[in-house]
Amino acid sequence: MNRVMAYCDRWTVAPGETVRFMVSCLGGTSYTAQILRLKQPDAGPQATPFAPEPVDAPCNGPHDGRFQAIPIGSFAVVPAHPALAPAGSFTLAAHVFPTTPAKGRQAIMGTWCEVSQTGYALEIDGQGRLAFRIGAGPGRVAVATAAPLSTRRWYHAAASYDAEAGAIILHQSPCSDHDFHPEAPATATAPAGFAPGAGGPLAFAAHSAGPAAGPSPWGGLAFAGHFNGRIDSPRLCAGVADAAARALLATDPLNAALAASLIAAWDFSRDIPTETITDIGPRRLHGSIVNLPTRAMRGHNWTGRETNWTRAPREYGAIHFHDDDLVDACWAPDFAFTVPEGQRSGVYAARVTADGFDFWVPFFVRPPRGAATSKVAFLASTATYTVYLNNRGRFLSLLTERYQGRVMVLDEIDSLLIEFPEMGLSTYDRHSDGSGVSYSSRHRPLQNFRPTGRHWNFNLDLFIVDWLEKLGGDYDVITEEDLHTEGLALLEPYSVVLTGSHPEYDSLAMLDAFEAYLRRGGRLMYMGGNGFYWRIAHHPAREGVIEVRRAEGGVRAWDTEPGEAFHSFTGEYGGLWRRNARAPQRLAGVGFISQGFDHCSYYRRTVDAADPRVAWMFAGVEDELIGDFGILQGGAAGLEIDAVDPRLGTPPHALVVARSENHSNTYELVAEEVLIPHGATDAVINPDIHADLTFFETPGGGAVFSTGSIAYAGSLAWNGFDNNLFRLTTNVLERFKSPMPFPLPK
Ligand SMILES: [Fe+2]
Repeated sequence: MNRVMAYCDRWTVAPGETVRFMVSCLGGTSYTAQILRLKQPDAGPQATPFAPEPVDAPCNGPHDGRFQAIPIGSFAVVPAHPALAPAGSFTLAAHVFPTTPAKGRQAIMGTWCEVSQTGYALEIDGQGRLAFRIGAGPGRVAVATAAPLSTRRWYHAAASYDAEAGAIILHQSPCSDHDFHPEAPATATAPAGFAPGAGGPLAFAAHSAGPAAGPSPWGGLAFAGHFNGRIDSPRLCAGVADAAARALLATDPLNAALAASLIAAWDFSRDIPTETITDIGPRRLHGSIVNLPTRAMRGHNWTGRETNWTRAPREYGAIHFHDDDLVDACWAPDFAFTVPEGQRSGVYAARVTADGFDFWVPFFVRPPRGAATSKVAFLASTATYTVYLNNRGRFLSLLTERYQGRVMVLDEIDSLLIEFPEMGLSTYDRHSDGSGVSYSSRHRPLQNFRPTGRHWNFNLDLFIVDWLEKLGGDYDVITEEDLHTEGLALLEPYSVVLTGSHPEYDSLAMLDAFEAYLRRGGRLMYMGGNGFYWRIAHHPAREGVIEVRRAEGGVRAWDTEPGEAFHSFTGEYGGLWRRNARAPQRLAGVGFISQGFDHCSYYRRTVDAADPRVAWMFAGVEDELIGDFGILQGGAAGLEIDAVDPRLGTPPHALVVARSENHSNTYELVAEEVLIPHGATDAVINPDIHADLTFFETPGGGAVFSTGSIAYAGSLAWNGFDNNLFRLTTNVLERFKSPMPFPLPK
């Protein structure tokens, strides 16, 4: 059976611009493509029927295709240079922190080419031991120390080829880690009756596997033998380094005593936000990282005196490599779609199909640049989509069933990710060595970004699009990716900006844009839960690549390691916006209070609902209970919910017009609210857990309406849109569209 996968090069495209699609056939040589406009999610018999609107495009129809592999796994590489293949004796050295020494052979550093069996390599061998190998085609030899490497400990490793003695020598020196581990230094030697042949480029954390048959991450080559762990301060020098020279290589490579022998000294603490690795030695043999290993990592010499890498970069000279890092699948483009002038703004997708198997590649058509075609903008949560892409922690973590309060149901999204681990990870996952995933990229096939299947993020947000379509379709679609780069200018033309159901991740530029928009009279409809929660950093050069440091507090799939809370892309302190003094309550009135995944509940109208300031909101809404129905687990209040908190910045004049109740005991207080452990943390006994339907006016005539619940959007279409939540939400939209300013209450 033929199946197909694809991704596109950009998520936001304006009329006249082109989006390119990269396709891989899994077991066949053809597929069909169709461009569609998405107007609702595929959500079953209680929802609007799923009816994507075909868009005329030259790319629609059958295409020839072929398999394209995904070259996963990070490494660093320095282009081949005569100095990297010394004629006589030489020594290479590095600090090494293995995280999976027992996983099998792993390359640390060298010019080794596995195909030609030439060059040299410092490695971990199949028995978890530090090893050094040289080869010249048919002649090859390797030596390993007797002591297997421990997991997550720093070593200084030094390997020499002694041309005069015809030998290779390997030294392994454990570094002190403020503990009393009994490891001792180890040395091993072996005869070597030949010099290593010239291998390929010099690589760290992988070795060359010769010319790539398919997509190549670097230089047309394939790479293999990926290392898990950290490498710090790698060096290369001529001659056999004695103990004194090895000590200088480790700590002071530019010392005059090494002036005659030093070939290269890479300093990974330089250029941390970039993809460059810098050689501070005499030849400037700079290189690059590939597939975004994690930078700004604690080095072998970290003292803890400073936890901000920008203030002590020399203690952050480690790069953490993972065999499952992936920033770009590097596929060749297969077809393109140029958005016709006059094409309406909206949510679109290319559907690629082979043998009845559909793969979806959504993208967003914004209005023509510099113009708005509506007073209403739906802001697609592309930052949140990005960090969730290809989430596997959901089905890999044993905790999921516990916090969901129900049995895990594997679905077709999960099954493809299980079958193709090379599709990479989300920032909700851990790497194969257990370390948290800090970076996520959209330049790869994305399995959980689609209008069908489980409702979360993009697919759930299509319920909001469904409602806007029901109201006549008068809206533009803009994206958080553009909000980050364009700021207030993107929002300014609109009377109302609507978020998605879970706009959880924001950069500083995004939060500042929202705030400025509201100050000048803008209106925000925050249509979800757990929004504006984590701080993110965008890659300085690559669009669609986002960093998250899960620092200090918050509901987290993993937590950052000590001293690693500052983003490598920007140097900004990561973690919750709450810990950056910009809690969500300041912007939206509400902030994350609890989550649960067993059952959704309803809101009950409060006394504030009778306030004349919100009389327009309740026009035609008589019921006491709001949203006691819905496609998402039976109610509008649930999944992840937010509450007001004046301590965290809810404005004093905010009105909570309806408040949810009757949540189950799977709804636990978020971790950041539990400073002293106590038993009263679930919704059955804790009165603080509720979703607050909140409204307030802003200086400048603007206003904010917050639902405080991810499930909310799933109730809009209930009963053919004939329900109190639809009426209330539509009342808000209509009032927010009006140019009439909102006066601040006296
Ligand atoms: Fe989330």
